[in-house]
Amino acid sequence: MIFYFSGLGNSRHVAEGLTEEGERLLFIPDAERAGCYDYAVGMEERLGFVFPVYSWRAPRLVSDFVRRLRIEGRPGYTFMVATCGDDCGRTEHYFRQELRRKGLNLDTALAIQMPNTYVCLPGMDVDPTPLAEEKLARAEERIAQVKALLRRRERVSQMIVTGMAGLKSDVVQPLFYSLLVKDKPFHSSEACVSCGICAKSCPLQNIVMVDGRPQWQGHCTTCLACYHHCPQHAIHYGRATDKKGQYYFGNDTKK
Ligand SMILES: Cc1cc2nc3c(=O)[nH]c(=O)nc-3n(C[C@H](O)[C@H](O)[C@H](O)COP(=O)(O)O)c2cc1C
Repeated sequence: MIFYFSGLGNSRHVAEGLTEEGERLLFIPDAERAGCYDYAVGMEERLGFVFPVYSWRAPRLVSDFVRRLRIEGRPGYTFMVATCGDDCGRTEHYFRQELRRKGLNLDTALAIQMPNTYVCLPGMDVDPTPLAEEKLARAEERIAQVKALLRRRERVSQMIVTGMAGLKSDVVQPLFYSLLVKDKPFHSSEACVSCGICAKSCPLQNIVMVDGRPQWQGHCTTCLACYHHCPQHAIHYGRATDKKGQYYFGNDTKK
């Protein structure tokens, strides 16, 4: 059984690529909406988690879900696969702790580099098209490697950690959440054509259309699906996303 979260499709693509025939693949926001936290796992069954790195840790909605999760039985093998733009920091450390609190032992932790989606801070933008394409091409090879490794149930740690991991994951992440993970700064510009794609693309169903314009409802994880999917580039996060590019998995990268 694999649980996954994805805002822009990178992690969804990875999760789908890793799922074996007949294996359950569950989208965490669907499970949350249905209030489903009880799952039976067979002795030989594996338990996996696939998610993007948010501020050098698992997204809080993933951690919150793990906290509520009740697993009946003992999985034969437990793994996490994180997708990241460039650096996971101490994602593995924190996620391992979260699983341990549930009595689960993380056997394997892997990272796959994918195009960056975070654009809400100065200097942060989507990758230039050639880099995004290169990352996507390398990701395909990596998914195949990871799939084989997971099939063999190898016990490894292969995260991408570039430096100052403690500072990033321990100190910056809490600040990032308290200062930046909120939907108040989101707004639509005059370019909005009321198509509603932002509302449809939001994995948390946090956007309602009011008089033809999006309104955010206060339970946002800043995955940026609304921003990146807008065909008019009409959604902005304060002024921070002015002149930034858009990307989602399966679309051409634009900058
Ligand atoms: C809120 C937010 C925070 C992010 N933080 C990081 C980070 O700390 N390190 C990193 O390498 N990439 C970071 N990224 C980039 C994503 O992890 C990466 O692009 C991921 O593949 C997106 O997956 P998705 O398409 O499944 O949402 C962040 C993206 C978002 C939206």
